[in-house]
Amino acid sequence: MARIDPHSHFDDLQPRVSRWQLRLRVDFPGRCLAGEVDLGFTRPASGVLDLDSKGLTLHRAWITATGAELPFELGPEAPILGQRLRLVLPPDTLGISLAYRTAPDAAGLQWLAPEQTEGGIRPFLFSQCQPIHARSLLPCQDSAAARVTYDAELVVPEGCRAVMAAGAVGDLDGAPGPEPGTRVFRFHMPQPIPSYLLALAVGDLDRRELSPRSRVWAEPATVDRAAWEFAQVEQLIEAAERLFGPYDWERFDLLVLPPAFPYGGMENPRLTFLTPTLLAGDRSLVDVVAHELAHSWTGNLVTNATAEHFWLNEGFTVWAERRILRALHGEAACCVAWAIGQNALDESLERFRDEPQLTLLRTRLDGVDPDDAFSSIPYEKGARLVAAMEQAVGEEAFHGFLRDYMARFRFTSITTEQFCAFAEERLPGLLRRVDADAWLHAPGMPAGAPVFRSGPLDQLTALSRGWDQGVRPDPDWARAWSPAELLVYLQNLPRALPLADCAWLDQALDLTGRGNHELLVEWLGIAAASAYAPAFERIRAVLARVGRMKYLRPLYAALGHHPDTRRLARECFAQAGPGYHALSRRVVQAELERYPAH
Ligand code: BES
Ligand code: ZN
Repeated sequence: MARIDPHSHFDDLQPRVSRWQLRLRVDFPGRCLAGEVDLGFTRPASGVLDLDSKGLTLHRAWITATGAELPFELGPEAPILGQRLRLVLPPDTLGISLAYRTAPDAAGLQWLAPEQTEGGIRPFLFSQCQPIHARSLLPCQDSAAARVTYDAELVVPEGCRAVMAAGAVGDLDGAPGPEPGTRVFRFHMPQPIPSYLLALAVGDLDRRELSPRSRVWAEPATVDRAAWEFAQVEQLIEAAERLFGPYDWERFDLLVLPPAFPYGGMENPRLTFLTPTLLAGDRSLVDVVAHELAHSWTGNLVTNATAEHFWLNEGFTVWAERRILRALHGEAACCVAWAIGQNALDESLERFRDEPQLTLLRTRLDGVDPDDAFSSIPYEKGARLVAAMEQAVGEEAFHGFLRDYMARFRFTSITTEQFCAFAEERLPGLLRRVDADAWLHAPGMPAGAPVFRSGPLDQLTALSRGWDQGVRPDPDWARAWSPAELLVYLQNLPRALPLADCAWLDQALDLTGRGNHELLVEWLGIAAASAYAPAFERIRAVLARVGRMKYLRPLYAALGHHPDTRRLARECFAQAGPGYHALSRRVVQAELERYPAH
């Protein structure tokens, strides 16, 4: 057996698919992608080929060059992996073709009705393939250990536009499609990517140029706000290049999705996907853009081989994001970001108290859905391991190491063990000095993990922790805090407060009216757990509109404390649930199931 990925039928001894050619029609009424894909091999192939597929209907398979029919066998549906698609290739096969369509409930696609968009007129479609949902878009070797380049052709209804995480071929505005009332958009992805970085979106999209190598796409009603919010993207790219070397993906475009997008950001190469909740109106949430940008080096260039090594992607990227932040905004702002991260880490450690195996960095996920293993652990524990290594050898030596690491493994996918071997070769003894074994293979946080503190930060947390003793911030002083500082203050307050205290806070810090969703949702969590009725309308509005799991989970959890708010939560879910992404729906359902019966 040469299976190296517990979440894929990918077998390292079998032929490697290295090229896709996709020809797909985007069928909004049928909620499916339908068409063909050609799969090309690295070298002439023969014998058994196992592919991943989930919910796909396969019509036909043939040898691309000759058209000769190829028998195929679809295995039973497994809950996490989906169905194995087995084909037997005759000798010297260069490529095969498959005609298929996706399921209306494909895990990697979200189909939005016009009402779920800002414009309200056209429907919208977007994909989210990480970690293992590419298999619901096409039959493929759906493992980060395998890479492909691709060409794609998407036929969409007139009035919609298609974008992909790839280079556009020909006119950005597409060309007349094969049938009246359609347009066709063509793409080419020259850099080899793991399947989870396949990405597409279709809808009424407009664009604004931000720099010679960056533009932002969004619905017409949002695009100007988006262009303002992200106007400084070129500065981010330049800061990142100074730290990590040249940007290798040519363009760094941004796509602002409708609010149902379940994540904050997704590092789809050349076209980062973003939630519209980043449009705070004050550029205070661009750290998410810095994070997705940093993935262009840590993640997209050097990739975790499987979900069991996810910390290699996210831990390095959080560390890199904070290096970019420090370069642009200084040490103090960076320290606040680490404190916010610490809060997320503590919450995840608490959530996995009964599943300590999910708090290791190097995880074992046989039989575990990677979406269920998702937490802040690989992010924040991972980033702290990277920081510990950096502190142990000094910034300069670590930077040299990192450059070598990226040069050595660029455009490949690696395991924790490969990373460790490389670290041992280049910086002998370092892993032992930081006790990397404890970080990687033991639950919780190792003793001696780096802590990020500063005078102003300590002052802030002391202020919130004094709440029960009657300590209150001077509202004029608090108004001068940065949004991130205010967030730290709110995060360290008691989780539920007397109603009079809620009213004081709301009024003094102007909370319910905030447009910055990090702050807003942190506050609404306190308000919900306190059953503070003046915030209920705002809670309803957020839950009705926003699909980002990071916000839905804590809000629904906080609503579980009182019968009134439980009723509110159930009402909101009954109304908004059908519009949530399937993943968000699952996360919320789990929270609701934790509510007491009455
Ligand atoms: N790659 C992740 C998002 C992701 C991870 C999607 C796993 C599916 C499975 C992305 O880079 C990310 O980490 N986004 C964060 C923002 C970041 C600033 C921590 C998010 O969405 O909140
Ligand atoms: Zn990330």
